[in-house]
Amino acid sequence: MRGKILLLIVMLLPLPQVFAEDRRVRVEMPPMMREHMLANMRDHLLALEQITRHLANREYDSAAEIAETRLGMSSLEGHGAAHMAKVMPREMAAIGTAMHRAASRFAITARDAEIEGGLNAAFSALSDVMQQCVACHSGYRVH
Ligand code: HEC
Repeated sequence: MRGKILLLIVMLLPLPQVFAEDRRVRVEMPPMMREHMLANMRDHLLALEQITRHLANREYDSAAEIAETRLGMSSLEGHGAAHMAKVMPREMAAIGTAMHRAASRFAITARDAEIEGGLNAAFSALSDVMQQCVACHSGYRVH
């Protein structure tokens, strides 16, 4: 009896996200550009991990340096951002730009935190960066 009730409860739970319809817009791009973009993405995640680690050690300057050079406005040329933006829907490219801006803002906030102390502002600014990762990932896909 208890087993049946449990089963009923499980069946009434909302379907997990994996079964939900995928409403992301599929963006077509030449295979080489797609590979290039995905390689950049993997580096973005690595950069976030390294930034978080530096913040945990209160190495604000190193965190700022990684953010600016790998995610911030200084990273645009290395990422071939101008070429990439051309194959993206305009809204998607705008999220990318917002992410690069947020990363550069984070770098400034982290350097200020070095002087003033306090991790709160730095983490808040880092969260602003990650918000843009989330925004783009929930709207677009390339596969
Ligand atoms: C402008 C849009 C955009 C932004 C901003 C963005 N991504 Fe992505 N990312 C994508 C798309 C599109 C994919 C491919 C998803 C798919 O096709 O399923 C992707 C894939 C990835 C992948 C998987 C790579 C692989 O090898 O398959 C990682 C990791 C990733 N992103 C990390 C990040 C991180 C971390 C950030 C923020 C610092 C970020 N991305 C910001 C669009 C974006």
